[in-house]
Amino acid sequence: MPLLEVKNLKTYFYTTRGIVKAVDNVSFVLDRGEVLGVAGESGCGKSTMAYSIIRIVPPPGRIAGGQVLFDGTDLTKLPEEELNRKYRWQRISMVFQGAMNALNPVYTVGHQLAEPLVYHKGMDKREAIEYSKKYLELVGLEPDLVKRYPHELSGGMKQRVMIAMALLLKPDLVIADEPTTALDVIVQAQILNLLKDLQHQLNLSIILITHDLSIIAELAHKVAIMYAGKIVELGKSEQIFNNSRHPYTQKLLSSIPRLRERRKLEFIPGVPPDLRAPPPGCRFHPRCPFVMDVCRVEEPPMVEVEPGHQVACWLYTKR
Ligand SMILES: Nc1ncnc2c1ncn2[C@@H]1O[C@H](COP(=O)(O)OP(=O)(O)O)[C@@H](O)[C@H]1O
Ligand code: SF4
Ligand SMILES: [Mg+2]
Repeated sequence: MPLLEVKNLKTYFYTTRGIVKAVDNVSFVLDRGEVLGVAGESGCGKSTMAYSIIRIVPPPGRIAGGQVLFDGTDLTKLPEEELNRKYRWQRISMVFQGAMNALNPVYTVGHQLAEPLVYHKGMDKREAIEYSKKYLELVGLEPDLVKRYPHELSGGMKQRVMIAMALLLKPDLVIADEPTTALDVIVQAQILNLLKDLQHQLNLSIILITHDLSIIAELAHKVAIMYAGKIVELGKSEQIFNNSRHPYTQKLLSSIPRLRERRKLEFIPGVPPDLRAPPPGCRFHPRCPFVMDVCRVEEPPMVEVEPGHQVACWLYTKR
């Protein structure tokens, strides 16, 4: 049984101005110790998908269909209390987008690391702070940092604290949403290396979300490319990076700057669609250089182009 199986997940925001289909029929499987990279332009539904897995989609959003099978249990059907007690943070934790700025400025690092241990493990506060020191060391920080306040830390240090916090309760799965986006390139590389080491050391499963495909090349075993609420291509990392098939993936790849290469960078013309009224047929069709008649009217099905490699594009299937 895979650790996580997301099946036909639909998460919609029921706004007064219409229904935003932020996640629309998304399916994938994640095994133990596996890293799935999820990439796509901003607004394509990556964060909403992550929130759906641990069921913290903010209103007016709601899971409208599908299943999130974690170790065989459908988390979408579980009572809130049970989800909180057994799964959230204990088995699935999350490093939120922009999380390092969410550290509370009035409490010490130790106090904030202790909180989940007191709440979930029933430790007393002093014991919890002692315990959390091990986790600071695990993420490459001095254990003495428990006494410091967030403003005394650099961005990279704060992000390490957030990663330590995500690991405290020994989860099987960590979802990291744009974990390096606010950081400079060098610190970004350090944080990615840290995630890679931790993944090996703890045999973690990770869902690594990013708008920048180059970030996940080093880390991900599998890659899912999202466009306008849907996964349009899914495959092993080498399949996506060396043998991508979907025109959108190819565009994303050609927009990655490469060191020592003078090639002109491409950018993807047009903008992602409004998810209240996405284009009919293939959602990428208004921006696709290979668009055909069928693309404008009928949604392409997901087909397997080689073992483990799936693409939703009419170029690879006959109607
Ligand atoms: N609270 C909300 N209310 C209404 N629409 C939302 C809300 N949060 C996100 N959305 C919409 O859902 C879509 C997906 O957003 P998001 O999951 O944040 O994308 P990403 O993480 O890929 O940038 C976007 O169109 C966004 O405008
Ligand atoms: S289905 Fe058609 S429009 Fe969509 S990506 Fe493929 S070729 Fe382009
Ligand atoms: Mg996001």
